[in-house]
Amino acid sequence: MPIPERFLDELTERNDIVDVVSQYVRLTKRTGANLFGLCPFHSEKTPSFSVNRDRQIYHCFGCGKGGGVINFIMEVENLDFPDAVAFLARRANMPMPEEAEGEDTSRRKRLLELNKEAARFFYAQLVAPTGRPAQEYVNRRQISPAMVRAFGLGYAPDSWSALTDAMRQKGYSDQDLFDAGLMKHGRNGGGYDAFRNRLMFPVIDVRGSVIGFSGRILGDGEPKYLNSPETPVFSKSHNLFALNLAKKSKSGYIILTEGNIDVVSLHQAGFDSAVASLGTSLTAEQARLISRYVSEVVLCYDSDEAGRKAAQRGISILQKLDLKVRVLQVPGAKDPDEFIKKNGADAFRNLLEASEGQVEYRLKLIEEQHPPLTDEGKVDYFKAAAALLSALPSQVEREVYSARVAEKAAVSRQAVADEVERLRKRRLRDARKKEEREQTRPSVASQPTQRGIRYDDPRSARAEEGVIRLLYLDPGLARNRELPAPESFSSPLLGRFYGELLHRIQAGERISLGVLAGRFTPEEMSHFTSVVDGTEDLSNADRALNDYIRIIAGRSEEQEDDLRALAEKYRKTKSYGG
Ligand code: UTP
Ligand code: MN
Repeated sequence: MPIPERFLDELTERNDIVDVVSQYVRLTKRTGANLFGLCPFHSEKTPSFSVNRDRQIYHCFGCGKGGGVINFIMEVENLDFPDAVAFLARRANMPMPEEAEGEDTSRRKRLLELNKEAARFFYAQLVAPTGRPAQEYVNRRQISPAMVRAFGLGYAPDSWSALTDAMRQKGYSDQDLFDAGLMKHGRNGGGYDAFRNRLMFPVIDVRGSVIGFSGRILGDGEPKYLNSPETPVFSKSHNLFALNLAKKSKSGYIILTEGNIDVVSLHQAGFDSAVASLGTSLTAEQARLISRYVSEVVLCYDSDEAGRKAAQRGISILQKLDLKVRVLQVPGAKDPDEFIKKNGADAFRNLLEASEGQVEYRLKLIEEQHPPLTDEGKVDYFKAAAALLSALPSQVEREVYSARVAEKAAVSRQAVADEVERLRKRRLRDARKKEEREQTRPSVASQPTQRGIRYDDPRSARAEEGVIRLLYLDPGLARNRELPAPESFSSPLLGRFYGELLHRIQAGERISLGVLAGRFTPEEMSHFTSVVDGTEDLSNADRALNDYIRIIAGRSEEQEDDLRALAEKYRKTKSYGG
């Protein structure tokens, strides 16, 4: 059952787009009606993400994404339409209408219930006498019973159908099991358990739902871990292992590690804010999730080269969200788990307290790469360090670290400060140029930026866009005027937008982006916003609208001419044919 339009209208009214977006993006005022910030959907250094309070839309000039408040939540929280509506309803304290629960939502609910049942099953298998192999492994890794309980660890027995049989008993179909990623299809058409003979780590989201699993082999072997595939309820890149526990920590920071075992080990040693990124390198979505709970992150990756690289990448992703980043390296151990097992919790606490800010960490790496011991080394060190400092947003930081670099490179403070300033200016200039280039790309003028949307008749399509934009901004323009039919539009998509607008205007209703968000895909909505976010001089609106309509009508006249010509030709052939 669709969500009633009245409800969507009220929902979008009660969730002002500026307020909602501000919870994710720091917006600042520039000239004009738009607020600007760094786009949460692609990585950028200068803000091209804009929000317009009057039009209640957001739109990124860089990546082209856009829409109303519901689209924003769908995108940023990775929710489908009904769930985004439910999310905003909660935010505005609006009870959901009964019939609003869509098919998608009930499907998701079923899969979540199945996951919960599966987690219970795995847990029961671990503590049962037949769970001996997994118990032995747990003991070998020195994981305490308290941690088994806290994480809900489990055992997937060494069987092709143990889970499947148990879940069928509870009324779940093979399709359910398959959709949840718990079953795989065999070649003969049957299905078998996806996880076999593994220690199971349920992945639990911040709401407490079991959304997927990570299963480790007991001992050595390949693949070491199996993870749930992407399912309607699970996305690796949008979740973190153990964030459900870590979000309750009082520490004020999150410890980010690579391995599930590291996380368990850290929690066991009393570091209750440890999480891991599910085997992916940290994503922007995961970073945003973290930033909802804390403002500081301690990166605690493995001590190999891969771990170092991951830390560098992590730093730049976390920094974009204004998170304070420290880097903790474990000396003499391959990962935090091994370090704690060797040296104990107190030793780890000491490391934590001594862990460096990310600037110090990166300066140290530069120092390792270019030891400032010879004159040549000093020059290389100086150049690389100045480049690093020039990218720091805070002037205080730039000054403090400049002093330190000056000492190491044996040059004056002023020399470092001058070089940093020079590089910083160049950086800003380059960024500005790039932005200007992007905004004046000729493609913007002829074809839409959204992939998959193409205009057959760009000239008419521009006029069609104009009509949509004007009617969206001022529906009153429709009064006492003959408007073209949606079918006369050259672009079917623009015709559909226009049809929706017309429908609401004729019914005397407001045009609501909330309603549109339920009828068009996110890509189509992005396109819609880019259309209505275009500049339009409303003082000339009447004339402009007439011009647009004339261009569209001209197009259909041309078409009619074509038809007439065709008919003529037909008549002639016929007469020839006698
Ligand atoms: P690790 O190999 O470091 O595993 O991979 P670990 O959890 O620390 O286990 P131990 O201590 O070596 O026994 C780090 C993370 O990468 C993902 C898992 O999430 C793992 O926790 N991973 C690793 C996979 O997804 N697949 C793999 O085959 C290996
Ligand atoms: Mn590891």
